Amino acid sequence: MKNLKETTPDTSPFHPPSSPSSYFLSFEGIEGSGKSTQLKTLKIYLEGLGLRVIVLREPGGTTFGEKLREAILASKEALHPAAEAYLFASSRAQLLNQVILKELSKEKTIVICDRYIDSSIAYQGHARGLGAGTILKIHELPPLNFLPHQTYYLDIDLEISFERQQIRGGQKDYFESENKDFYQKLIEGFEEASLLFPSRIKKIDGRREEERVFADIKNYVNKLLDIPG
Ligand SMILES: Nc1ncnc2c1ncn2[C@@H]1O[C@H](COP(=O)(O)OP(=O)(O)O)[C@@H](O)[C@H]1O
Ligand SMILES: [Mg+2]
Repeated sequence: MKNLKETTPDTSPFHPPSSPSSYFLSFEGIEGSGKSTQLKTLKIYLEGLGLRVIVLREPGGTTFGEKLREAILASKEALHPAAEAYLFASSRAQLLNQVILKELSKEKTIVICDRYIDSSIAYQGHARGLGAGTILKIHELPPLNFLPHQTYYLDIDLEISFERQQIRGGQKDYFESENKDFYQKLIEGFEEASLLFPSRIKKIDGRREEERVFADIKNYVNKLLDIPG
């Protein structure tokens, strides 16, 4: 299987080069793992260091992407795994072109994405059965071969996920309505992604209290940005 490079390519005929002082980060993990919670804390921390922080969610982040998000998450009919994979890739390509790459070409900018390629590996690759190799193949085409510099995978178990989702409340969407087997496969899928990208993906125990989880994230981001801890 041909693998994508572990490092983010800095030039492509399709996009402007990134500023060396700018970084692309992502959060991954199943529902309730704490992505939104930790992302907010990280944004405040990085802004406190004088950095410009752009927060994005996937799918979405552009008018076109938000429409795709609505179409996928509100779907009452099961989509073919390939249809899911290409819809997410399409939203991602547009987000890269319209927002991420332009922002990263500016100085001292941190783009943080709530979910990115590893969710595609976990959901469509592993849980839906397309295989991680298929997902990586779709991402060989620029601009999709542009990967985050660092990814925080918040690892929790099924029980905690369901407990926290219950507390959070709200209506269940297309993926949230899936059963426990599906969630178990997602966990395996995120593990698979972690093994494919061992230096980019930082696996963090998300079962602990918020402050402990953030301490790990802060350590990793400080190392990446060369900030004394
Ligand atoms: N470390 C934690 N310990 C306990 N509860 C948490 C923790 N992190 C988040 N939560 C709570 O769990 C729920 C889901 O968190 P959220 O950040 O929305 O997860 P995600 O964005 O990954 O779905 C929220 O109600 C949040 O307040
Ligand atoms: Mg969230």
